[in-house]
Amino acid sequence: MVNNETLNMIKQRRSIRNYNPEQIKEEELQAVLESGLYAPYAWETGKHFTVIQNKEMLERLNHLAKETMKQSKSEDLRKMGNSEEYHCMYHAPTLIIISGNEKAPIPVHAECAAALQNLLVAAESMGLGTCWLYSVIMAFDSPQGGELLKELQIPEGYKPYYSTTLGYKKDSVVNVPEKNRNNITYIR
Ligand SMILES: Cc1cc2nc3c(=O)[nH]c(=O)nc-3n(C[C@H](O)[C@H](O)[C@H](O)COP(=O)(O)O)c2cc1C
Repeated sequence: MVNNETLNMIKQRRSIRNYNPEQIKEEELQAVLESGLYAPYAWETGKHFTVIQNKEMLERLNHLAKETMKQSKSEDLRKMGNSEEYHCMYHAPTLIIISGNEKAPIPVHAECAAALQNLLVAAESMGLGTCWLYSVIMAFDSPQGGELLKELQIPEGYKPYYSTTLGYKKDSVVNVPEKNRNNITYIR
């Protein structure tokens, strides 16, 4: 098997749901963001990154996302919304949201996802924890969603698609599961 540092980082990354409250260093944040800028893109102005480190705003996003979950058709989501313990961001000190330009003639959500995955792997290479989150995006489906877009200065016409937490891991989880390969077909 081929083995190198990049492959190891990709395999080692796991969703982290337990963080130290300490904020990450600015240089770490900038390095993670830079990895997103180098991701493949479909459109020059396809995406926008929003970095949120303001505690009040993080709590507000959690609250609004959970309010939306409470109204969901899915019982699982309703349970999460109603749970006192559940925190959409697992109390991570940083959240990055990637929004896509709705005016682009190509579906830019794919480029947002590519950038997000770069952030996750770059963060792992620095020992930082991440968790890809859809849950928090539900805050934008709340009645206050429009207001939130303005407060977060998400450019007009951009839609929040994906997000990730960023922070120092509370426990160092290095559980690399074996993956099922039955979903690969080879035509040779
Ligand atoms: C599109 C997408 C949305 C996700 N949303 C959430 C989420 O809202 N909350 C959460 O805790 N994890 C979320 N995850 C993380 C997955 O649960 C996780 O990646 C999966 O269970 C595999 O675990 P691993 O990341 O540790 O390999 C999401 C992942 C993806 C790709």
